[in-house]
Amino acid sequence: MTDFLITTERLILRPVAAGDAEAIAALADNYKVAVMLARLPFPYKVEHARQFIDWVATQPADETVFVLCLRNEAQTFIGVCAYERRGEKDPELGYWLGEPYWGKGYMSEAVKAVVDHAFKSARHERLISGCRLQNLASRRVLEKAGFEHSGPYEIDSLILKAKVPGHRFVLTRERWESAAR
Ligand SMILES: CC(C)(COP(=O)(O)OP(=O)(O)OC[C@H]1O[C@@H](n2cnc3c(N)ncnc32)[C@H](O)[C@@H]1OP(=O)(O)O)[C@@H](O)C(=O)NCCC(=O)NCCS
Repeated sequence: MTDFLITTERLILRPVAAGDAEAIAALADNYKVAVMLARLPFPYKVEHARQFIDWVATQPADETVFVLCLRNEAQTFIGVCAYERRGEKDPELGYWLGEPYWGKGYMSEAVKAVVDHAFKSARHERLISGCRLQNLASRRVLEKAGFEHSGPYEIDSLILKAKVPGHRFVLTRERWESAAR
């Protein structure tokens, strides 16, 4: 993982640090967050956050996990956005935001910056993502970032212990470049 610091209008996107464990656990320990994600444990303990932070340190340089913080004095932690391969050819974009921060446009702002980073800095050619069928907010975040619906797929849900139906989304470099023009 490379060093980076990105600022957007209202957010700071930075690498995860050991000191983030408590703040991550405080917001991730929410069924409404976990049920929309494939791999987030629930209940989510500080120990899970520490394992996550250790795992991030082992990731290759062209896969990046961004911690999202508000641009306030305390630089309050609000969520995570990442692109990672996890054994696949193309990196997958994934994200979650603490519930108090939903509905304010923060993830749309963060995803745009993370997508730009994936294409400009990490030089990826294609990003994939996906969301559960009922996750209309996430679907909208992806569509606003330029992702195209590419068909159905199954999400292997850790907490539901089942495969649940979802929408697959793709964003190619070509499409990203033409949207940026
Ligand atoms: C999904 C999530 C990341 C969205 O983050 P957010 O910062 O609240 O999203 P934004 O405010 O940037 O944008 C949400 C968009 O969805 C729309 N939206 C929200 N709820 C909606 C709903 N029920 N139906 C339709 N659209 C909805 C909003 O109007 C907005 O679109 P707009 O800008 O065109 O008005 C956040 O709710 C979250 O972390 N949820 C739990 C974890 C999760 O679902 N992660 C993604 C897994 S695929």
